[in-house]
Amino acid sequence: MTAELPSSAALDGDAGFAARTFLRSGGLTAEQVRRRPIIGICSSWSELTPCNLPLQGIAEHVRHGVEQAGGTALVFPTISLSEALVRPTTMFLRNLMSIDVEEMITASPIDGVVLLNGCDKTVAAQLMGAISADKPAISLGAGIRPRGEWCGRALTIDDSWRLIEERRAGLLDDEAWADVEGRVSPGPGVCNVLGTAVTLAMVAEVLGLALPGSSLQDAGSDEQAEFARLTGAAVVRAVREDVRPRRLVTRQALLDAWRLVCALGGSTNAAIHLMTLAGRAGVDLTLNDLADAGRETPTLGRVKPNGPYDLDDLRREGGVAATLGALSAQTDLGHPTADGRRWRDVVDALPPGPSRALASSEMPQSPSAAIAVLHGSLAPSGAVIKCSAASPHLLRHTGPAVVFDGVDDMRNRIDDESLALDESCVLVLRNCGPVGGPGMPEAGAIPIPVRLWAQGVRDMVRISDARMSGTAAGTIVLHIAPEAAVGGPLSLVRDGDLISLDVEAGRLDLLVEDDEFARRSAGTAATVCDLPQSRGYMWLHQRHVMQAHEGCDFDFLQHSHLDETARTAEGVA
Ligand code: FES
Repeated sequence: MTAELPSSAALDGDAGFAARTFLRSGGLTAEQVRRRPIIGICSSWSELTPCNLPLQGIAEHVRHGVEQAGGTALVFPTISLSEALVRPTTMFLRNLMSIDVEEMITASPIDGVVLLNGCDKTVAAQLMGAISADKPAISLGAGIRPRGEWCGRALTIDDSWRLIEERRAGLLDDEAWADVEGRVSPGPGVCNVLGTAVTLAMVAEVLGLALPGSSLQDAGSDEQAEFARLTGAAVVRAVREDVRPRRLVTRQALLDAWRLVCALGGSTNAAIHLMTLAGRAGVDLTLNDLADAGRETPTLGRVKPNGPYDLDDLRREGGVAATLGALSAQTDLGHPTADGRRWRDVVDALPPGPSRALASSEMPQSPSAAIAVLHGSLAPSGAVIKCSAASPHLLRHTGPAVVFDGVDDMRNRIDDESLALDESCVLVLRNCGPVGGPGMPEAGAIPIPVRLWAQGVRDMVRISDARMSGTAAGTIVLHIAPEAAVGGPLSLVRDGDLISLDVEAGRLDLLVEDDEFARRSAGTAATVCDLPQSRGYMWLHQRHVMQAHEGCDFDFLQHSHLDETARTAEGVA
């Protein structure tokens, strides 16, 4: 299959006349259109994605690196997805962007590609598309945005959650609210804590699809510019050595990436995206595999939103390489890096020294992983919880359910004075999964009801089939599968039912009698949301999106779909 991919050979000879003519109309010289390899720079720059604004400048540094290494670079755009601006959620459009990326890489006369991303789903979608296209590819992010400052206090993006609660509680007036709006994110770049964007950039490093050290650079820094130039040179090398993504995305590498996420307390969204990357690469990987790998991984990270330290501290103390080094007993340091070395070489080259952002494996923050996988009668196919961002006293808790049917219902009633609740209640948000959301919005961090917040309550057990931002914190169970909208047990919960969470036992259960559970299950068909009328992309999404424990890809985009198609064709023949 890969030998048939279009490449710069389409520019050769008489057959390439038209292509060369049009490229020269854009200003390329006769020599440039004959240079090889041709490298595409796949850019998700967009003014509608402020996190990715540095990519325009970064593309020119990448171009310089490609040309220094003897190639020619051509920038092309794709869909771009901003967490802050796209509705109903970027996750709804992640698969669409991945199709755009795959088809542009596949159809264009390029030999390799640099993936320029930043905001959360732009990283995931580009990696998905590049793995499916399987031309040599290296990823680079926009860099980390500067920290803000307000009233003499440093602000990172995770402070937004506290500020929103304070606004809801009436502690910030209109003037203060307008003032802080301009101070939380004082410049472009990705979120400046260990959210989804940085987590996925680190995952790309582990897989060998981004240069070691590239995930933690500041937006606009000289170091970031140098990483861009090196990325351009590295992709030329990858083309010459025919290093393709599907050779790099192995089961071991994916599990090692998950171990890194668990050790650092990265974004829970990584569980979904890793399952998807596995599916694109044709690797057999289940949520239970992630659960097993996580169980043997200690929590080492002390970086926001899980600890007091900044990403700057983690970068100075070795970043991904230092974390893999601390996990060397569990990880394969023989895996190739994007610059052609092995992780062992990178780890061995780290300067020795104490670390604040990273605990040692001998004295971890916690002997168990920062992210745990749960099962139980409420989550037969699984759910996840970020233990490192939860309240320890709530990790084992039983309380009565207060149920919200969707985000609108939650927003309308969460502060209703007549709602019977106290801090022992378990807040339940449903119909926010891949189908019901649609697209699984980051709504899982249900706000603490204002009247409880005023009493000093800062955390409660919250459960949902939604996702949450990697910047959020709390005792929050996410990704419950199957989701309520397709008849999962979450759809059976009623106000007042007791729900039991036991993270150590890996359980999430609905405590109703078996016969009552069976009686409600028998009526599920009537409670399942019928798919609303739709057309176009929504229609495609509703019918083909997979559940959270499977990665939420479209079934027909999985690598295994090739085998199924072949089997079907044989059957027809
Ligand atoms: Fe774009 Fe966080 S909102 S990286």
